[in-house]
Amino acid sequence: MTSRDEIADLSNLWMPFTANRQFKAAPRLLESAKGMYYQATGGRQVLDGAAGLWCVNAGHARDEIVAAIQQSVATLDYAPPFQMAHPRAFEAASKVAAIMPTGLDRIFFTNSGSEAVDTALKIALAYHRARGQGERTRLIGRERGYHGVGFGGISVGGIVSNRKAFSGALLPHVDHLPHTHDLEKNAFSRGQPAYGEHLADELERIVALHDAATIAAVIVEPVAGSTGVLIPPRGYLQRLREICTKHGILLIFDEVITGFGRLGRATASEFFGVKPDLLTMAKAINNAAVPMGAVAVERRVHDTIVDSGAPGAIEFFHGYTYSGHPLAVSAACAALDLYKREGLFERAEALSPFFENAAHALRDAPYVKDVRNCGLIAGIELEARDGAPGARAYEAFVKCFELGLLIRYTGDTLAFSPPLIISEAQITQVFDTVRQVLKTIA
Ligand SMILES: Cc1ncc(COP(=O)(O)O)c(C=O)c1O
Repeated sequence: MTSRDEIADLSNLWMPFTANRQFKAAPRLLESAKGMYYQATGGRQVLDGAAGLWCVNAGHARDEIVAAIQQSVATLDYAPPFQMAHPRAFEAASKVAAIMPTGLDRIFFTNSGSEAVDTALKIALAYHRARGQGERTRLIGRERGYHGVGFGGISVGGIVSNRKAFSGALLPHVDHLPHTHDLEKNAFSRGQPAYGEHLADELERIVALHDAATIAAVIVEPVAGSTGVLIPPRGYLQRLREICTKHGILLIFDEVITGFGRLGRATASEFFGVKPDLLTMAKAINNAAVPMGAVAVERRVHDTIVDSGAPGAIEFFHGYTYSGHPLAVSAACAALDLYKREGLFERAEALSPFFENAAHALRDAPYVKDVRNCGLIAGIELEARDGAPGARAYEAFVKCFELGLLIRYTGDTLAFSPPLIISEAQITQVFDTVRQVLKTIA
C-alpha cells in the first residue's frame, strides 16, 4: 500500500478547497476504509464523524455496493445516454422516485451536486419558457447558501469566498434572501430554532422589488451544511413554500447533504413536511461510491417541458456524457436497497436524540458559543481566535484527526455528520474526543 514516503511528489495535484501549501507541508492521507473507519497512513484507525464529506451514509466499502459496481464494470462499462440508454438507469430512476416527495418522480441524472444544481436552475428557466413565461429569468438564492461550484451554483450561493474571485462572471438577475443564523436569539437550540420564520417574508420584499413575473425560482438548502450547519427556524420553510406558490415561483430544495436519511427520513422535505417543486441530490444517492447526482422534478414541470416540443425533437438541451453512468446507477440501486434493507433512515431517526444530547453536552466546553443539530447533523460553533477567523476550528480539526477522528470544519464551526450506522458508543467517542481537543487548544 502506498504510504506518504512512497509518494514521490505531492506538487502535481492541485487539491480542491484546500490550503495546498499548508497541506503538503503536513499531509493527511487516507489509504483505505471499511464501515465506520478510515485507515490513515501508518495503519492508524480514524473514526469517520463526517461520513467522508456528508456522503457515505451506509458506512464505507459496503459489500453489496462494491459487488454491484464490480459486476457493472465487467458487464457494461459505459453506455451513451443521449438517444440511447441502458436498463439500470431506468431502474435507478424508479428507485429514487419511489422515495422522493409525492409527485417529484421525474429524475434527471448528473455526476455531482454542482451539476444537479445547475441542471435544476436550467429546468426552472426552461419550464417557464415552455409555458409562455420566458420573462421569468430571475433566480433567488440565500446568503450563506452553498450550491456547489458551477457558475449557476455560485451565483445563487451566498458564501462570499466562493464568489469573489469570480464576481465578474456571475449570472445576472440573481437576488438573495437573508440567511437565518441568529445566535442572539437562537443559540443552543435543539432542533429547529424558535426565532426567524419572518425571515421568509423577505421573499415578499424581493418579489415586490422585481415583480413576480420576472422570478423563475428560489433555491435553498433545507438545512444548510457547508456554511456551518444552519437549521431552518420553525415555520420558515413552510412560509417560503406559501410565498412561492402564491407568486408562481418554483421552489428548489438543495438536498445534496440532507437527502438519503441524514435527518432520519428519505428527504428533508419529508422531515419538515414541505414539498418543493424540484429537489437536487448527490452524495449519498449511491453512498458516494461513484460520482453521481440527480434532480427530482415535479411531474407537472417535467411534462410542461417534455410535452412542449414537436414530437421527435429533443425537448431539453442539457445532459452529461456520464448522466446515468452504469457504475454510478448500479451503485445507487445497491445503496438504495441497502438503506431500505437495514432500515438506515429509521436508524438515524432513532439515534437522533442520543446524538443531540451528546452534541449539546459540549455546551460548557472551552470556546463553544453554540451547539445546533437536526437529525444526524450537528454544528459546534467556536469563538473565533482574535484576528484569525477559522484558525481555532482548523486546529481542532487537525487535532481530532491526530486523535483518530475525522470531522469537518467550516469557518469556526465544527460539523458532524456520521454514517447512519454509527453506534451510541461511537457517538460518545466523537464528542468526547472533541471535548478533549478543545481543552488542549488555545
Ligand atoms: C447543498 C449542496 N449543494 C451542492 C453541493 C455540491 O456538490 P458537489 O461537490 O458534488 O458538486 C454540495 C456539496 O457539499 C452541497 O452541500
